[in-house]
Amino acid sequence: MNSNDRNDQPSAGETVRVPLGERSYEIEIGSGALARVGEVARRVFGPKAARLAIISNPVVDRHYGESVSRALRRTGFKTVKYLIGDGERAKSVRTAEKVWDFLIENRIERREGIVALGGGVVGDLAGFVAATYQRGIPFLQIPTTLLAQIDSSVGGKTAVNSPRGKNLIGSFHQPVGVVIDPIVLRTLPAREFGAGMYEALKYGIIRDRQLADFIAANLAAIKRLDDQPLTHLIARCCQIKADVVAADEREGGLRRILNYGHTVGHALEAVTSYRRLKHGEAVGYGMICAARLATGLGILTAAEAETIREQTEMIGRRPAIGDLDAAEVIAAMAHDKKVAHGRLPFILPTTIGNVVVRDDLPPTLIRTTIRQLIRQY
Ligand code: NAD
Ligand code: GLY
Repeated sequence: MNSNDRNDQPSAGETVRVPLGERSYEIEIGSGALARVGEVARRVFGPKAARLAIISNPVVDRHYGESVSRALRRTGFKTVKYLIGDGERAKSVRTAEKVWDFLIENRIERREGIVALGGGVVGDLAGFVAATYQRGIPFLQIPTTLLAQIDSSVGGKTAVNSPRGKNLIGSFHQPVGVVIDPIVLRTLPAREFGAGMYEALKYGIIRDRQLADFIAANLAAIKRLDDQPLTHLIARCCQIKADVVAADEREGGLRRILNYGHTVGHALEAVTSYRRLKHGEAVGYGMICAARLATGLGILTAAEAETIREQTEMIGRRPAIGDLDAAEVIAAMAHDKKVAHGRLPFILPTTIGNVVVRDDLPPTLIRTTIRQLIRQY
């Protein structure tokens, strides 16, 4: 498929299975999927579930709240709704407490459930509440940002932030299903879409060279939200995430590769107080940096690192980081929750499509490469 093949015909849709034994579930992807959410909810919550609590935020609710409620009513559910604030600050224990109270007041029972309608903030918070309310109730993910559709809604990581750090309080709790409607991305701000695209490219670099090439060849069509390339992109990313999670649900080994670009990315977010860069944008810088570290170690050719830089830069511009202090960025990396026994793991490509985990990088290589990144951008 190339970028000139504009096609507005809805695709048939795709289903990706996350095989996790009795916690297995399906990700349904397709234009118009939102209208079919009632049938999916009936299947995953079962014939006896009478009520569902929708958790969303005011922005997403304004666009999609009514159509989701209507679709759920059509298959016999009564719904109650709680709207959390918009933005990362809402992903807190305080918000979780308000939602727990709401569920208790509305007498939501164990065999009923939660529907998370929104981006990663809503999904992580709603998932955390579902993991903890009455020792765990089922929840259905309806992700509405590209990042949530290809990453956060799949795999069962749920969390809220502590004032001392992001995602420090959480639990693994798999959803009972994920419904992805690419049409909802039409209302997503372009910068949020771009942030998700860095994470999409990440999957290509860690596992699937063809995917990285597909993104590069079809970027214009994907950005125009042409149905076929967009649905294919989302499905392929979900398949890769499903494969990795199925092999290593609790991040004992393989799942760490999903953190490609995140060691430096998290540090850039932290030193800019989580205000300047979207998470995906920080990961974009982190991917370029990790590729250069790999070249410095002699495990990736300079030509491959350059391709990774080009493919990352094609996605769009990120806020500048030229004013940052390299020493502060390195200090922030040392606080990363991935540090184990004082060693900082990096996910490093050996070719586009393959990565290794290394925690033995010479400090001088890290320093030089971060300084170079900051000078350049
Ligand atoms: P977000 O949830 O804050 O959404 C971004 C913005 O887009 C918000 O203002 C939101 O209201 C708006 N929005 C959402 N859908 C929209 C739509 N269809 N139309 C218009 N506006 C819309 O941000 P995000 O990037 O989706 O998620 C970030 C969060 O995800 C972070 O908290 C991060 O820690 C978490 N995350 C979790 C995992 C995981 O595995 N659980 C993985 C990656 C990221
Ligand atoms: N976003 C990384 C993971 O789900 O493991």
